[in-house]
Amino acid sequence: MTRVELRSVDELMDLLHACRGAWDTPDRSGDPVDLHDHALQTAALLRRGHPSDKELQLAGLVHDIGHLLHPGDDAGHADTAAAAVRGLLGERVARLVQLHVPAKRYLATSDPARGLSPQSALTLETQGGPMTPEEAAAFAHDPLADDAVTLRQADDAGKVVGLDAGVMEDWRPVVELVAQGYRSSNFTPSLRS
Ligand SMILES: [Fe+2]
Ligand SMILES: [Fe+2]
Repeated sequence: MTRVELRSVDELMDLLHACRGAWDTPDRSGDPVDLHDHALQTAALLRRGHPSDKELQLAGLVHDIGHLLHPGDDAGHADTAAAAVRGLLGERVARLVQLHVPAKRYLATSDPARGLSPQSALTLETQGGPMTPEEAAAFAHDPLADDAVTLRQADDAGKVVGLDAGVMEDWRPVVELVAQGYRSSNFTPSLRS
């Protein structure tokens, strides 16, 4: 399968716009909102709870673009999305995106009474099912575990049909800010003799 790496803010924004009318399952048997509304709702929930954490908000915005990049590959969609944004938005955003599936498996073990959408419950099994106690303990030790769980909770709540969660283009300045921050953190000035 071809690995996609997004190179610019424009490329990412184009992909996010293309999420309108795209679904987590190609036959639309999955979640009841399209990937565009799901992205906006997830990001808006994270912005409300964590207004200063732009990286967490963006991780919520882009977490499911793997469904668009490789339709039908549910088991790999988190890794696909993480690889696509890593070079543009940095390692923390990429890892949070990657962890949105393990976080679901973790919560299925640590909080089994928690409700999942029918589609999420269905795909949980193909994604490995609930974590074993050992896997859950290892997950809990990850420095990003709490943030990944926060993202996952917003992910599960961001599936409300007809809920207006804003406009995709309003996220462009946030994407630019985080991309710029990541670029500058990577910039090593060359030494002149
Ligand atoms: Fe997902
Ligand atoms: Fe999602």
